[in-house]
Amino acid sequence: MVNIYVTRRIPEKGLQMLKNAFGENSVEVNPDDRVLNYDELMEKVKGRDAILSLLTDKMDDKVMDAAGPNCKIISNYAVGYNNIDTNAASERNIIVTNTPGVLTNATADMAIALIFAVARRVTEGDRFMREHKYKGWAPMLLLGKQITGKTLGIIGAGRIGQAIGKKMYKGFGMNILYFDRSTKDEFEKETGAKKVDLETLCKESNFISINLNYTPETHHLINEKVFNMMHKDTVLVNTARGQIIDEKALVKALREKKIFGAGLDVYENEPAMAHSLETLDNAVLAPHLGSATAEARTKMSEIAAQNIIDALQARKPKYVVN
Ligand code: GLV
Ligand code: GLV
Repeated sequence: MVNIYVTRRIPEKGLQMLKNAFGENSVEVNPDDRVLNYDELMEKVKGRDAILSLLTDKMDDKVMDAAGPNCKIISNYAVGYNNIDTNAASERNIIVTNTPGVLTNATADMAIALIFAVARRVTEGDRFMREHKYKGWAPMLLLGKQITGKTLGIIGAGRIGQAIGKKMYKGFGMNILYFDRSTKDEFEKETGAKKVDLETLCKESNFISINLNYTPETHHLINEKVFNMMHKDTVLVNTARGQIIDEKALVKALREKKIFGAGLDVYENEPAMAHSLETLDNAVLAPHLGSATAEARTKMSEIAAQNIIDALQARKPKYVVN
């Protein structure tokens, strides 16, 4: 009998697909709505044919060895898969899959929400109201930054980066710059986007959005040297992975007002964040909500389930990453 483990409850749709394909008893779901600790994970994966993991599960070689030789697939419930040692998986003939595409708009919308929140000081204004500091309209109260017609720099023009660029070009007439290894012809045609180096992007953009995968090459890509290329009007948002930014250098740039503000959905040592962030008014902080719409999370459960169904029925899943 097929034996699938799901490390935490996900929307019912995907679970139902697995049960329809392999039987009611083929799926075990972690009954507690929390992240399993490493020892629990090692214990729970034993003897499974498939594991549906979350980005909060560290799937390394030891966990794969604990799963054992039956394990054919680790289906990550995320587009990012830096929580999985994909080389170790390949060495063990384990397929690793992700859920791209279906969370592109949700994550792009979140990046845009952060751009607006920082530029128009929405969360600062919210705190101001709650603290009963509002004494009446004032010409100089909480002045922000105009977005319409300004320049947006996209670091990493994959699906999500391009979706942000298209929305901001069409909706707000923004000029688009991007930094990426490859040239994106269609994207350039559609938005007039220009491919530039990182320094040019930092110097010329009013708004910068980080949309890269996290890999050893992108670790601390945004460091003190790069913050020094930005300017006092720069708004930076990160909906990708926290480790792409040197968080200490970010705190310094925000505290010294080297940049105007930052909108963060991800953190270097998630769920922890650099202590000083919470004391800085020019930071808008969200708890990794990029794909957190009911629509996207349901679609992700369908794709993650379909990846498992394909792998266990000896078809190549659509979204293999190793
Ligand atoms: C979310 O961060 C994801 O990678 O899906
Ligand atoms: C994710 O969907 C990306 O490629 O940006």
